Amino acid sequence: MRNRLVTVIFGSLVLWGLITYFLISDQPVNDERNTARVSNQISKLEKRVKEEIALNQELLQDITEDKQNRRKVDTVNANADKKQRKANHVDKNKILLEKKEKDIDNGDRNVQQSETEPAHSSETSHNVPTKGKLPNGSPIIAILVFSCNRVTVQRCLDQLIRYRPNVEQFPIVVSEDCQHRQTAEVIGRYGNQIIRIQQPDQSDIEVPPKEKKFKGYFKIARHYGWALNHMFFQLGYDTVIIVEDDLDIAPDFFEYFLGTYPLLVSDNSLWCVSAWNDNGKAGLVDENAADVLYRTDFFPGLGWMLTRQLWTELSPKWPKSYWDDWIRQPEQRRNRACIRPEISRTRTFGKTGVSNGMFYERHLKYIKLNTQFVHFTRMNLTYLLKDNYDINFVNEVYQSTVVSFSELKTGKVVAPGAVRIPYYSRQAYKNTAKQFGLMDDFRSGVPRTGYRGVVTFYYKGRRVHLAPSANWNGYDITWS
Ligand SMILES: *[C@@H]1O[C@H](CO)[C@@H](O)[C@H](O)[C@H]1NC(C)=O
Repeated sequence: MRNRLVTVIFGSLVLWGLITYFLISDQPVNDERNTARVSNQISKLEKRVKEEIALNQELLQDITEDKQNRRKVDTVNANADKKQRKANHVDKNKILLEKKEKDIDNGDRNVQQSETEPAHSSETSHNVPTKGKLPNGSPIIAILVFSCNRVTVQRCLDQLIRYRPNVEQFPIVVSEDCQHRQTAEVIGRYGNQIIRIQQPDQSDIEVPPKEKKFKGYFKIARHYGWALNHMFFQLGYDTVIIVEDDLDIAPDFFEYFLGTYPLLVSDNSLWCVSAWNDNGKAGLVDENAADVLYRTDFFPGLGWMLTRQLWTELSPKWPKSYWDDWIRQPEQRRNRACIRPEISRTRTFGKTGVSNGMFYERHLKYIKLNTQFVHFTRMNLTYLLKDNYDINFVNEVYQSTVVSFSELKTGKVVAPGAVRIPYYSRQAYKNTAKQFGLMDDFRSGVPRTGYRGVVTFYYKGRRVHLAPSANWNGYDITWS
């Protein structure tokens, strides 16, 4: 089994090497308008993507078989263990039952309805029940609202409660930090419509002298770390949507997350679903395409869904501050993408806070919040799975007509359909982004909303791709 695995890996490497050799030995495209050459490049790229997929599948199958075989051996060897495990299981069930009763006493109605099962020990060392599914098999997705010292959390909670389609399916948990009396009073008024939890550690945080003015970021990271541990390992939820106390939400916020949930759990190359489009300003989105979704390599945050599996991976190394830039580093992201919408399902209304007020005035304030309800759960969203998406995306981007900013702006482009503006350097990207009013920053080399280096938006009635060369093969983390 092991030998076969090695052979397959070796074979893959050789094939990959050959493909790369042929691609590199090919002349780079000098004249973007030379369509014959470009389409040649695209079909090569497409072929490469297809081959990558085929190889991955073969490898995966091999690994699965290998695992199964090992499991067989385990079963033979471990018969003696079985009895012990059974005994443990009984104990565990007893604990679960007690926990269940306690939760019911606490007035948590969700527990009565949910299927309670022990957590897989391979996923977490904490033996807590998971609250994964409703009796009808639909997932339970908890909403975690972060609150500190802003009484405007009321605005956010009112909307969450108004648009929530099902109380059992979407329990709202408000996590309080900062011991702010007025905010606590506001939250208290919601009674059993919500579940309240409190960050217990109110100690002062040691901050390096140079970062004194960023203390708020240290507090936020501590609060996030504690609350997510609590949600997944104490309350036992499988899936959580994170919302901050300054967010407005769209009417189809819940429908959006419920509809994309199957993608998140079935596609290992996805690690989040976000409600946010970083370039989602009116004038840069297609207002008639509220149903269109994308993959992005840039972690957007601002209303996002994650699973227990991801949290189990991140939790042990959670940083002391600046968690959002940390999560965007290659060591954390590991090439995974998020789903994001054409039109945002969240919008931030708070300009006072830890983050920069200028940033709010220049960008955040103009983000368009979706108003049209889209029935995502009834849609076929398989086009977003990596294997389907990448081929179509690469095709659409690199077969589109190359134009310049001024041609677009003055309406000189006659060809119908999507267009492309190539960029070959960090500065060229930033210049063009500024001209359109797009966000022009990079995090760990990834431009906001970028996918395979391509930033897609809408301008004057057409889809525009700000795209690197067709030979692109990864982000350069020195781009900032
Ligand atoms: C969903 O769309 C894909 C094409 O993207 C198609 O192959 C598949 O059959 C569709 N599934 C259903 C259930 O319609």
